Amino acid sequence: MPSHHAAPARVVVLVSGTGSNLQALIDATADPGYGVEIVAVGADRDAILALERAERHQIPTFVVRVGDHPDRTAWDAALATQLAAYGPDLVVSAGFMKILGEQVLADHTVVNTHPALLPAFPGAHAVADALAYGVRVSGCTAHLVDSGVDTGPILAQRAVPVEDDDTEDTLHARIKDVEHAMLVDVVGRLARHGHTLTDRKVTIP
Ligand code: GAR
Repeated sequence: MPSHHAAPARVVVLVSGTGSNLQALIDATADPGYGVEIVAVGADRDAILALERAERHQIPTFVVRVGDHPDRTAWDAALATQLAAYGPDLVVSAGFMKILGEQVLADHTVVNTHPALLPAFPGAHAVADALAYGVRVSGCTAHLVDSGVDTGPILAQRAVPVEDDDTEDTLHARIKDVEHAMLVDVVGRLARHGHTLTDRKVTIP
């Protein structure tokens, strides 16, 4: 007898680089019980490994470059138009290295993954910043995106110890291992159960 699953949540993943987090999500969707269909992958630049990964899995892709638009507001509107075409229930920013604009955030629930324990080390250089500061523990954070830079309500966090001989690359690699599992877990739970938000506290029933 075939097993029955509710219709999967429609998810668009936004990427800018290697796409190892995207790959972890793609791998998770092999199980229909995971409850996610990745309906498209969007990027802010061409010729990145993340887009190749999507194409390899026959997932539609789109690119919306800031430089092709007169200003950020126009870029945001163009990204919102692309996203709307796929009707996502959830948008996941997985290594997407741009601040999302008002229109996209008004239209969608967006989850971001960040390679530090927020609110420490927000921004584009979190791993280098944590190492330079000399913290003994860093990690990763999944959070809902608001209009600030890595300031939205926190969904999940995992800790990763810093080793004495860590470089940005070695620490980031160990963070990514943990980050992949965190992101797969939180996106699946959001997709299957939804969430409620009270002040900054997120509950996934
Ligand atoms: C991830 O570690 C993600 O947290 C980070 O970029 C990496 C992307 O890796 N994002 C940021 O730093 C956003 N400020 P991936 O392309 O292999 O998934």
